[in-house]
Amino acid sequence: MSVTQIPLPFLYTVNHLGPDHRRRALAEDVRTGLTSTPKWLPPKWFYDATGSELFSRITTLPEYYPTRRELAILRENAAEIAALSGADTLVELGSGTSDKTVLLLDALAGAGTLKTYSPVDVDAATLEAAARRVAAAHPGLAVWAVCADFERHLSRLPRTGRRLVAFLGGTIGNLDDEARASFLSELHDTLSPGDGLLLGADLVKDTGRLVAAYDDNAGVTAAFNRNVLTVMNRELGADFTPQAFEHVALYDARRHRIEMRLRATRPMRVNFRELGLTVAFRAGEEMRTEISVKFYRYRLERELLRCGFAVSRWYTDPAQDFAVVLAFVPEGRHAEEVQAPRGHRRNGRS
Ligand code: AVJ
Repeated sequence: MSVTQIPLPFLYTVNHLGPDHRRRALAEDVRTGLTSTPKWLPPKWFYDATGSELFSRITTLPEYYPTRRELAILRENAAEIAALSGADTLVELGSGTSDKTVLLLDALAGAGTLKTYSPVDVDAATLEAAARRVAAAHPGLAVWAVCADFERHLSRLPRTGRRLVAFLGGTIGNLDDEARASFLSELHDTLSPGDGLLLGADLVKDTGRLVAAYDDNAGVTAAFNRNVLTVMNRELGADFTPQAFEHVALYDARRHRIEMRLRATRPMRVNFRELGLTVAFRAGEEMRTEISVKFYRYRLERELLRCGFAVSRWYTDPAQDFAVVLAFVPEGRHAEEVQAPRGHRRNGRS
């Protein structure tokens, strides 16, 4: 009889968010966004259990190409990415279900450098489940799960070893130009020379295809969009009638970004019991729930450069629908060449 030893997974979790963080942050965003003209909300509130489930369904829709394209790019290039990065720590921002991580983990393990995987996500339950799955599947790998908001807690990422920070899925597109510049600068400033960034970004393409990806025939994206109303009903005691809002997806060609909105089909007053707040909607009034910026290669490379990164590889699919960019914090003499011009980096070290 053979005895199989089941190794205990090295799993650690650290939570940078207080117990009440979610509710308070949502309350603050509602107070700011729904009292502005036009009304808006940050897209992170889509992702409760139902929203995460709906997003998973979106990734399998025929119209929604980004996930499939990115997976194909990673499958094709993971080994080279691993070899170039030489990372012992893979940090994944907005890791969600950690689906694509397997490819990178296997490649880094194959390169013989991997020691630690550090998924970072705002949703504690999703994070915990994904971290457990990865830890169980990779015995010997230290899994250091960080529950944090990657826009606010970048300085709390693991600080040791040679890191590769993966920010995949095109989530960078959720940040507008200003937020993206500060995000990339702050990320750069928490990293050390030699550390890498692996960034997934959706590319500018035919408008029809872009809009269809955010307005699918089966109506899954519409349900995903309206789900944010249900989140506010449950978490802030609001009384939205989700069916009274229409899903809107449009492409703003000037700012090369998709906008998702919810349009009130009639005048409404919405009460937020827990906030002592009432918000009025006019018939036809739109509330913006998400932006998803689409990129040109030269622009994204320039942005990375301005934030202090040296672009090493630009990977794309044959149709050039999506890009995965590998960039590094420059080492040694290259550091000066890439040093950003003054004024471009908000928190620049001098
Ligand atoms: C997860 C932010 C990359 O912008 O394409 C999908 C979210 N929204 N369909 C995207 C989303 C509507 C998605 N990201």
